[in-house]
Amino acid sequence: MKKRPCATILIRLIEGYIYSRLANHSCESAAHAINSLEGGVGTLVFSSGMGAITTTLLALLKTGDHVIAPYPLYSTTYTMMKRTLSNYGIDVTFIEAGNIEDYKKAIKPNTKIFYGETPNNPCLGILDLKAFADVARLVPTAVSVVDSTFASPYLQRPLELGVDIVIHSCTKYLGGHSDIVAGCMSTKDEEILSGICEFQRETGSCLSPFDAFLLLRGVRTLPLRMEKHSQNGMKIAQYLEQHPKIGKVYYPGLPSHPQHEVAKKQMSAFGGMIAFEVADGLEAAKTLVESVKLINLAVSLGSTESLIEHPATMTHGPFQMRPEDRRKGGISDGLIRLSVGIENVDDLIRDLEQALAKV
Ligand SMILES: Cc1ncc(COP(=O)(O)O)c(C=O)c1O
Repeated sequence: MKKRPCATILIRLIEGYIYSRLANHSCESAAHAINSLEGGVGTLVFSSGMGAITTTLLALLKTGDHVIAPYPLYSTTYTMMKRTLSNYGIDVTFIEAGNIEDYKKAIKPNTKIFYGETPNNPCLGILDLKAFADVARLVPTAVSVVDSTFASPYLQRPLELGVDIVIHSCTKYLGGHSDIVAGCMSTKDEEILSGICEFQRETGSCLSPFDAFLLLRGVRTLPLRMEKHSQNGMKIAQYLEQHPKIGKVYYPGLPSHPQHEVAKKQMSAFGGMIAFEVADGLEAAKTLVESVKLINLAVSLGSTESLIEHPATMTHGPFQMRPEDRRKGGISDGLIRLSVGIENVDDLIRDLEQALAKV
């Protein structure tokens, strides 16, 4: 008989719900829906994307273990690995994002986690998921973990390509409406699932039932939204690429993207996340993000409405990262991150056009 997700096993044992931190109907429904999209043996939902990431890592790691992680990556994941994991005696080697050879070279006898993020935040770099899973298998006791938030399970399914664990910030595309903070992890390995489930119950990073209800509502429209995000994303990336005031455009769907061929292989479309450089740097970037009218200046991403932000002063800014860390990750002062929503694409282009005229 096919085993059921951990929370369901628990319910079977106790014959009913006894306490919401342990299991509840709304969280289980959202987890089952996401699990069917990812193709795992089970999914757990969490109080945030960071809750999913830290709970998963701390459940699997112990003092003396080693983690290989890419750079750049979502800023809080980076600082959590750099500060918090080292406080627990866990060694982290940061390698160049997407570089499979670097993962191989960084392996140590105590390597326990191979970590990846694709497309990555904020530069939209792509990790070859199959090659990554194959490298992780060189260490039989290690586990591969991928943050697939920018793609959502509609565009990319890492478990099918051999990755052990896939994580999302459901605050983004899975929720889809900027009205919840949530996270999830899915796996094909029952032992991993029950270990993390147990750790989550002990440490309490569970999702509230009401947010789980909103998450499930979001999942219902994921295909419609992702198709539209991807159509709009491609049109805006093409528009930006030909604009004289824009330097580089990083969008996995553009043939000019360095890992476009890998993206074509593992993604069914390319989503709504774009990063681009404003040719004149910091001041020009600030002017642009402050001049848009329809697009909102805000962090977060993956919602129906378009959001723009300036990583060097916002998500990856001084309160999170040192300038040398930003430079190392290719996060320049002129870099802008755009989360393209599902609005009329001509309206979005008109908004960018009037803002670029002020730069
Ligand atoms: C790629 C990625 N992973 C994880 C997170 C953390 O998610 P949350 O804000 O839900 O904790 C974010 C947040 O922006 C993100 O962009």
